[in-house]
Amino acid sequence: EKGGYPSFMAKEIHDQPRAIADTLLGRTDAAGHLVLDEMKLDESELRSIDKIVVISCGTSAYAGQVAKYAVEHWCRIPVEVEYAHEFRYRDPVVNQRTLVVAISQSGETMDTIMAVRHAREQGARVLAICNTHGSTIPRESDAALYTHAGPEIAVASTKAFLAQITACYLLGLYLAQIRGNKYADEIADVLQQLHEVPAKVQEVLDGLEQVRALARSMADTRSVLFLGRHVGYPVAMEGALKLKELAYIHAEGFAAGELKHGPIALIEPGQPVFVVVPSPRGRDSLHAKIVSNIQEIRARGARTIVIAEDGDTDVEPYADTVLRVPQTSTLLSPLLTIVPLQVFACELATAKGLDVDQPRNLAKSVTVE
Ligand code: F6R
Repeated sequence: EKGGYPSFMAKEIHDQPRAIADTLLGRTDAAGHLVLDEMKLDESELRSIDKIVVISCGTSAYAGQVAKYAVEHWCRIPVEVEYAHEFRYRDPVVNQRTLVVAISQSGETMDTIMAVRHAREQGARVLAICNTHGSTIPRESDAALYTHAGPEIAVASTKAFLAQITACYLLGLYLAQIRGNKYADEIADVLQQLHEVPAKVQEVLDGLEQVRALARSMADTRSVLFLGRHVGYPVAMEGALKLKELAYIHAEGFAAGELKHGPIALIEPGQPVFVVVPSPRGRDSLHAKIVSNIQEIRARGARTIVIAEDGDTDVEPYADTVLRVPQTSTLLSPLLTIVPLQVFACELATAKGLDVDQPRNLAKSVTVE
């Protein structure tokens, strides 16, 4: 049932192009408009929302953080992303005009269930983005948008993450479509690019030997840092989480701009640092800033492992290793840049002789608060 792969996790990483394609499938009509009827939320209701609050935990929370950049850009609706367990136990400001989006692979995470109940008690509309039909979270929500990643067996989430990001993009584009704002014109273009992503993920998967060799060579590493900006920031945190949970290595993700406010003190000769670099096209200042971050840490002795787009030569002078991903727009890039980080964690854990499908102390779904 592992399809010839050494672990469920390896199989699920390779299932990712299909997880994205299946999540996109059947959600546009012949005219190219998004149709999300299954959500069963009234269009007029969706037009009147003035805030989105995403509640989730772990990897699903990072999917929400990625979504924030895209949804705010396309819809001009403020998006807050909060851990479900934090949301539940403060006194959050939500009301009938708040759309709460609960993201959960399993649909059974108790922290998220409790937050959904709390949000509904406050009068908010709750939409579940979930991978498991009939599970508690979509049942207790007003509406559900399912990710079609297929069952995820490995404890560490991979394909569900990419499917969650995809579903969040669909939601954002749908809201932009029905609210008819100035970004509505971008919808067709972004949808087209989104449909090209599965083949690009496949391209990343076809060229993994470099990251595998890197992981094997780093089996004795004790600490790894991950830096990113903009959508690369949640990718950096997800890369760090994967390494912690699978390889039991101390790992931390930072916003690259935060470096000089403290974390740069951690840089000492030989410290491995992954840097997730945004596209050099479009948002020029963002790209230039992260290149200068790489320069700064390299000057202090960091071993820099840079994830950059094909054709981005600016990073080369400061990178010990460059892991390449195909070109796409900045907002969609997390669907590509996370893949080498997933593979790195999986391969390094395997090199340490660990069971990647069943990391210690972890359960697939956390059904207690
Ligand atoms: C990490 C991981 C966890 C889950 C988290 C939420 O690899 O799997 O962090 O993402 O426990 O689980 P769901 O999405 O089922 O609510």
